[in-house]
Amino acid sequence: MDLQLTHKIAVITAASKGLGKAVALELSKEGAICVICSRDSNLLQHTANEIMSQTGNKVMPLPCDVTNADEINKLKDEVLTRYNTVDILFTNAGGPPAGSIKDFSAEDYQKAIELNLISAINLIHAFLPAMQKQQYGRIIASTSITVKQPLDNLVLSNVSRIGVVAFIKSIANQYGTYNITANSVAPGYILTDRLKHLIQLKAQQENTTYEEALSSFAAEIPLQRIGTPEEFAALVAFLASPKAGYINGQTILIDGGMYKGLF
Ligand SMILES: NC(=O)c1ccc[n+]([C@@H]2O[C@H](COP(=O)([O-])OP(=O)(O)OC[C@H]3O[C@@H](n4cnc5c(N)ncnc54)[C@H](OP(=O)(O)O)[C@@H]3O)[C@@H](O)[C@H]2O)c1
Repeated sequence: MDLQLTHKIAVITAASKGLGKAVALELSKEGAICVICSRDSNLLQHTANEIMSQTGNKVMPLPCDVTNADEINKLKDEVLTRYNTVDILFTNAGGPPAGSIKDFSAEDYQKAIELNLISAINLIHAFLPAMQKQQYGRIIASTSITVKQPLDNLVLSNVSRIGVVAFIKSIANQYGTYNITANSVAPGYILTDRLKHLIQLKAQQENTTYEEALSSFAAEIPLQRIGTPEEFAALVAFLASPKAGYINGQTILIDGGMYKGLF
């Protein structure tokens, strides 16, 4: 299927590695011009070069800490100065520390909310007017399976991400009239450095090996395996395309069937 993404301008945050990088690579393969951001400028430049060498399409690295509203505004100014518009916004950030209720103070929750909720709100506020002006836009917010099924060792994620779903639904309701769609994607276990870190933590807590902890993560999933960043990116690329024009306000799980509820 031709996703009709050639020359679309895409902003992908938290994209020097992991899920964000996979999304940038997939959009770039489909012909989009990608602006990628994260904090470590060296790794970001390296990732941009790597993607450009694989796809032959322009990838612009712009360092930005998404917890800093001023840096988001600078990112927006730079993108609009260079490209005049934005067609696709993929909001993403680092993950909050793992742990359960006994491990965290109110301040920890505040930091997690800044990282995972306020960053998405600021990014969407920044880029929405350009989408409104051109009467076209695709907003995809990355969240987590925790928005459907809270996980005991990820209580900061459980609390901080659900507001993103509510914000995305509000955007979907109020901006559909501008031909802008807004959806959330909710990954289960996808093999990135973040997940490797969580597997390592479980191995330490249960005094077992990395391989055994990995198997016990996979055992929770009907498909009996962890997902790949490429599988995640394929979903996002479709939602980012004109082909997904009638999908709006949804939260789409990509979890191998790990979520056990009906709706
Ligand atoms: N992998 C999974 O299975 C999974 C499942 C559910 C949810 N998630 C969530 O999805 C998000 C991405 O996870 P991942 O697995 O791709 O993690 P990852 O492999 O550790 O990559 C994290 C990326 O985020 C960037 N980043 C971190 N903090 C940032 C900030 N404040 N501003 C800008 N960029 C920032 C990092 O670069 P710098 O450090 O250089 O900034 C890096 O590029 C996380 O929130 C994670 O909790 C992941």
